[in-house]
Order: sequence, then structure tokens, then C-alpha cells
Amino acid sequence: MSPVIDLKTELPGPQSRALAARRAAAVTKGVALSSGIAVLHADNAVITDVDGNRMIDFAGGIGVMNAGHRHPGLVDAVRKQLDHLTHACFAVSSYESYIAVAEQLNRLTPGSHEKRSILVNSGAEAIENAVKIARYATGRPAVVAFEHAFHGRTNLTMAMTSKPMPYKKGFGPFAPEVYRAPYPYCYRCPSSGGSGCCQSAPGYWDRIFTGLVDPSQVAAIVMELEAGEGGFIAAPAEAVAAIAAFAKKHGILFVVDEIQTGFGRTGKMFACNHYDLVPDLIVTAKSLAGGLPLAAVTGRAEIMDSVHAGGLGGTYGGNPLACAAALAIVAAMEKENIPERGALVGQKLRIRFNQMAARYSSIGDVRGLGAMLALELVKDRTTKEPDKDKATRVQAEALKRGLLLLTTGTYGNVIRALVPLTVEDAILAEGLDALDAAFAAAG
Ligand SMILES: Cc1ncc(COP(=O)(O)O)c(C=O)c1O
Repeated sequence: MSPVIDLKTELPGPQSRALAARRAAAVTKGVALSSGIAVLHADNAVITDVDGNRMIDFAGGIGVMNAGHRHPGLVDAVRKQLDHLTHACFAVSSYESYIAVAEQLNRLTPGSHEKRSILVNSGAEAIENAVKIARYATGRPAVVAFEHAFHGRTNLTMAMTSKPMPYKKGFGPFAPEVYRAPYPYCYRCPSSGGSGCCQSAPGYWDRIFTGLVDPSQVAAIVMELEAGEGGFIAAPAEAVAAIAAFAKKHGILFVVDEIQTGFGRTGKMFACNHYDLVPDLIVTAKSLAGGLPLAAVTGRAEIMDSVHAGGLGGTYGGNPLACAAALAIVAAMEKENIPERGALVGQKLRIRFNQMAARYSSIGDVRGLGAMLALELVKDRTTKEPDKDKATRVQAEALKRGLLLLTTGTYGNVIRALVPLTVEDAILAEGLDALDAAFAAAG
């Protein structure tokens, strides 16, 4: 197969720069632009910009493209839906596709108990709804989130998000009754060197909560099993088991945020499947509808149904076009074994990342579940001082070579892979060659 990357101009090219100028004059600069590229077209893991440059996409619109850009099933389903209905408002009239998406989510998510779902527009809105439902069902006010968490940009989800810059700075005051617990970040754990996860030590969670909040006042513990914007930090199984046991003991609902980890990214349908975890509520979005805005809360029927009629909803939630897309994506996930493909992509990424770590001493840690894999960059492997500048340089060098790449992490020093899981082997290899060359060029 001949190379896919085809650069006809410098990057960003003249048309992208012209659009960037129009953007600056028309759109608030509060919305950042990491690549400077303006995209015109995308297929699976390849995007073409407005200057005709063809690039490989390791960003996937921040984890939305697990089934690839414009999956043929999705394109077909959305086209067909356009001939029938684009909006009704599910609080006004029912339509089958919303119900079918809820049925699929109830079936696919962990646990064989009776479930219910609600569909909304964005990940943040889904987290807001999960907290509303947990508070209503338990009659308790408090919520525990974690260090390194990212749950969104609305007022409540900002409060639950950990990283101040750029997500929180200047935007307070934040919603009350949000408490923050330590996240098991083993690479930077002060107790590392011992055996097992320190968060699973007997009494650890009782000690944490003693100084944090009365457990009898806590409605929900909300957790990403692999913290995404926090730096692709997968929690050890013992820590997750200890947190789940603590929640159960105190009647606290365990809410898992699978917005970035879900739909095959970690090599299983959900990250929960790695932990044999059945959460009380699970929150999904991003790759659920392959780029159309859709998010969901799915959970135990008695919790989800505890809320009075009219207490939940919204004008656009579960839009018919987004539901048609989600049904096509769910069908593709199962028919094309996309989670299994995620596991294979993850193996390939891990081999190449480990080879790079053997050559580039700035790579301090290679980590993650399945294809949700990352490289944490440090100035020195002993001190582990984060190297954000290097991560930014690698990202810029990758772009020069036609690879769209994202950084992440509380310290901005992590390179992450969010490549479509349907990527062709040769294109994945070509993207990894470009990443390797970007490391070499970044010094
Ligand atoms: C784990 C997690 N939770 C919540 C969100 C917020 O989702 P949205 O941007 O759709 O509001 C994100 C987005 O990146 C996320 O990764």
C-alpha cells in the first residue's frame, strides 16, 4: 500500500490559515484550536484538509471516532432518517429510535439487572443528569469526584473536573457539595514501591472519607476507570474494587464515566468489563453516535425510575438523527467486532510505544487499557519532572509530518492515541512511523 499521508502545502496551508483568520474575527478565542488545520473531508482514519493535504487522524475528534469517520452504516442510517423525521422532542412525542437506543444501552452495559436509560446531548449534560438522578434516588447532596478527573465544562461538571487550567480558571464560584478524593495514579504514587495498590489497603477509604465528607451524605462517587483528560491513567483493579465496596457499604451510588473509555476504546465494550464491575449508573457519549451529538445515562431501573415525571429531559436529547447514528454504530460494534479490533490496535500501539520508550529517554511511562494508550513525557526518569514542552513539540512535529495527535494530562505532558479502532494496519503503521519521526525531530 502506498503511503496515505500526502502533503501538498506546509501545514497549516493557505486555505486553513485563511479560515483561521475568519475564525479569529467571528468566533470567541475561548474555544482553542490545537492543530490550525481546517478539515474538509474524513474517511475512517484519514482526513483531508481544505488545502488538499491528506493526514492520518490519531485524535478521532477526541475519542468520538472509534468506529471511524463516516462509517458507511452510519451514513446510510442518517440519510434514511432524514427522509422521515429530524426532530420531535421526546417529551412531546415518542419515536422508535430513541427507545431502541435505550434498549441497546440497557442490553450492552454491564449487569443483567433491569435498567433504564435517558438520552441527552453531551457528556457534561449526561454527568449532570447522573448526579441529579443519584441525588434524587438517595436523598443525599454530596458527590465525590477524583483528582485528575474531567467530567465536562458546565457549572457542576467544572466543579467535578480537577484541572484548573484551562477548564476552571476564572469561572467560579462552582457548584457546592463536590468533594475530591485521590486518584490511583501509580506512576506518581507517593507510596509506590510497595506491593499492590495503596488505595486498596484496609481502611484506606474510611481514612480518606473521615477528612473529606460524611459518607451518609454522599449520593454518588463518580469515577473514570481510565482518567482521560487527566493523562490516560488506568486505575488498578484493587483500587476500583475497594472504592466499589466502600460505596456499597455506605449506600453510595457508584457512577462510572465511560464517556471516553466506552465503545471499544479500551479493547472491551466498556472499561467496566476489565474490572468485572457493575456500576449503579454508567454514563456514555462520544463514540456512541460516531460524531452526532448523543450521550446517555443508563442504570438500575429502581434508581432511574425514582425521579418524578418531567424531572428529566430537554428539547433535543435523543435527536432522531443522532439515534439513527447510534443504532448503526452499535450494530457495527457487534458485527465488526470493533472492541476486539481495539484490543489488537492496542497491542500494536503498545509494541511500538515500548520500542520508542527504549530509544527516547523522555518517555517515562507507557500506559493504558487496550487502544486507550499514552506516553507520559518527563525531563528526567528519576525525578519524573513533567515535560510539557516536549509533548507540545512532539505534537507539532507530528503535524508537520501529517499526523494529527493530541496531548493530555493534568501536567500537559502526555501524548495519547485516540486513533479509530477500524484503522487499516498499514495506515496505523504509517501513523506510528510519523510519531516516531516526530520524537526524533523534537530532540
Ligand atoms: C471522561 C469525560 N467525561 C466527560 C466529558 C465531557 O463530554 P462533553 O465534551 O461531550 O460534554 C469528556 C469529554 O472529553 C470526557 O472525556
